[in-house]
Formats: sequence, structure tokens, C-alpha cells
Amino acid sequence: MKDKHFETMAIHAGGEGGKPGNALNDPIFMTSAFTFDSIETANAAFAFETKDYVYTRGNNPTLRVLEERMAVLEGGSDAVAFASGMAAISSVLLSLLKPGDEIIAHRMLYGSSQDFIKNTLPQYGISSRLLNLVDLSVLKGEISHRTKVIYFETPANPSLEIIDIKAVCSIAAATGITVVVDNTFATPYSQRPLDLGAHVVVHSATKYISGHGDVVAGIAIGKDRDYVQKLKFGYLCEFGGVMSPFTAWLLVRGIKTLALRMREHQTNALAIANYLKGHPKVQKVYYPGLPDFPGHALAATQMSGFGAMVSFEINGGLNQAKELVNNLQLFKLAVSLGDCESLVQLPFAMTHRSYTAKEVKDAGLSPGLIRLSIGLEHKEDLVADLDKALDKAIR
Ligand SMILES: Cc1ncc(COP(=O)(O)O)c(C=O)c1O
Repeated sequence: MKDKHFETMAIHAGGEGGKPGNALNDPIFMTSAFTFDSIETANAAFAFETKDYVYTRGNNPTLRVLEERMAVLEGGSDAVAFASGMAAISSVLLSLLKPGDEIIAHRMLYGSSQDFIKNTLPQYGISSRLLNLVDLSVLKGEISHRTKVIYFETPANPSLEIIDIKAVCSIAAATGITVVVDNTFATPYSQRPLDLGAHVVVHSATKYISGHGDVVAGIAIGKDRDYVQKLKFGYLCEFGGVMSPFTAWLLVRGIKTLALRMREHQTNALAIANYLKGHPKVQKVYYPGLPDFPGHALAATQMSGFGAMVSFEINGGLNQAKELVNNLQLFKLAVSLGDCESLVQLPFAMTHRSYTAKEVKDAGLSPGLIRLSIGLEHKEDLVADLDKALDKAIR
């Protein structure tokens, strides 16, 4: 299946062992335990001598379809499904770090990821440093013998900054550091970090992988099969943040249309970014698909599409931004992203509240930054909604 086109793999990869009752679609195995016909077969399953399932916290056929499909789409050897993106991220990081180690992460991350790295990991003796990984000239000098993981999102949430995956990985390779990339914004349709040298990819599958805003889910995909086994049976199983089979089934269903959705999301996003760019009341637009965006050239080399998240700043700062989001009608004021519905939020008042005013300023962003998740409505209706709200909000 690995040699087929993305659209084909998104529909057929995973669960290739056949489906019960010759069903076209995979059933949902809503069962906590699996039965054995003898203690001998049970023993063999517990010893990993057979592929028999034991208990859904460790393995479940519906989850396996999702894991195998995502592994193929990301170009990994295998994957582990989690109850949320944060369950995937925290489990992966704790599986790679021990007391005395250090993690280097990009200074702009999803709020809870930043909070976990900055505040939670140090409580377990793991120190963290948040650096500007857009400028790699400093990275080599910052790495010490204690640095074991480099972690970043690209495009980053909500600044859309682009980080050079290949360049980070070549610096990391020289010192045996594991590189973990959050690929939530791009999805494997537009970017495959493992092909560029990363070791592990994590997703909030709540977003584009689901595509319909009806689940909370996470997944980690690894290049190394032994590491993925360790993540599943040493961390997922023990921490217990397992995904429900029903959620896995919804994701398997959602992934079938990932390519189509991403193409349409991205077409809409470029139209919105261009509209905002030409608006006299808009100060700055952040979208990797705009030719004058600082990360555009790099994005064009490591991505096959520019994603569908657009951030912008308007005249009048935070107060006017608040008025704008209140005046939008089609764009719903909500956290999350990657849904059919277009969403709007103010990250530094909502998802990124863990950032201090100084951290926001140092990253060159404004507290009034507005983040849009461009949905699948008609682009002219989305532009009209923004136009009306911009007219009203800024006097
Ligand atoms: C880039 C990114 N990574 C991780 C997460 C966390 O995922 P979840 O909410 O599924 O735990 C989010 C959530 O918004 C996100 O935007």
C-alpha cells in the first residue's frame, strides 16, 4: 500500500488483513477485553508470541486500522493512538526524557504544549529551553550533552513560523538527539517530517485528521518500530490515555477525505490571506502561502501545500480585535481548528494564555493577534463575513 498515491492510501491503508463478514468498512470493536480459548493461547498473547488482542488499553483492531493508516501516510514504521493530542505529546516526551535531561523547543507552541514543556517537565527533573528555532545559527551552540530532544511545530501555532526540519535534524543527528515534530497544522497531506529526518511525529488528531470537530484525539508516529512498541507498551499502557474504538472509527472515516478537504481548505485560506493583505485596516497577515511571508521560500521546499491557518493583526490592537471577533457570524468564536466550520479566536486571550506579555513581544507578535482556521464554506461567503466585521470593528 505504501507505493500508492496519498488519496488511495488514505482510503485503503491499514487493516489489510481483511474485514469480518466481508464488510466494505471496518467495524467498531467496542470491547474492553478479548477472550481466549485456553490459558496457553492467553500466555502466548501476553508474551507477544501471537497477534491476539488482550485488552483495549493496549491494543484493539479498530485502533490498529487507524495506527496503520497514519503510519503509512506519515511514512513511519508504526503509530500509537492516544485519547488526545496532549496525551500523545506528554507521553512521547516522557518516553524520551529522564531526570537530568534537557529539551529544546521552539519558543512559539500550542499553549498547553508550551506549558507542559516549560512548567511540568521541570517538576520531573527535566529542564527545558524555549529558543527561536527559526534562526538556526544559535542552535548548535545551545546544545549540551544533556540535550536529548528537540521539539517544534511547523507551521507554528499561532505565528505560522516555518522551521527548517531538515536543517534541525542534521544538527540533531550529529549529537544523537531525537527530533519530535508536531505536524497538526500541515497534516501528512502537505508535509512529511519523517521523510526530512525527524524521528517522531505527533498530531492533535482532533483537528484535520478528524476534520469534523466531533472528537478529541491524538496520535504519534515513529520511524523506529522498537521505539513505537516501547511507547505503546511502556507509556500508553501505563499512563492509560487510550483512544476509544469509536473515536478511532470516526478518524478512519475522516481520513478518507483528508486530501480533498486539505486541498479545499488551502484554496480558501490563500483567498482569505490575499483578501486580508489588501485590506487597509489590516496591519499584518501571517500565512506561509503569501510570497512575502518570511517562511514562504522554506515552506515551498518542505511542504506540498501551505496549510489553512491564517493569523492577522488589525489597526487598534487587542480592543479592536475583540470587537472584530464579536462581529463575525460565519466564523465561529472557538478554540480548535481543522473543522469544516471556519473558526476564529484570540490565542493570547484563549489557547495561548500561558504566554507572558514578554514572551508574546519577544516572538514579535501582538496580544491582539487573531487566528483563523479556514473551513470549507464558500470562500466568497467567508470574505464577505470578514469584510462586514472589519467595517464595523474599526472606526
Ligand atoms: C498544534 C497543536 N498541538 C497539540 C494540540 C493539543 O491537542 P488536543 O487538544 O487534541 O489535546 C493542539 C490543540 O489545539 C494544537 O493546536
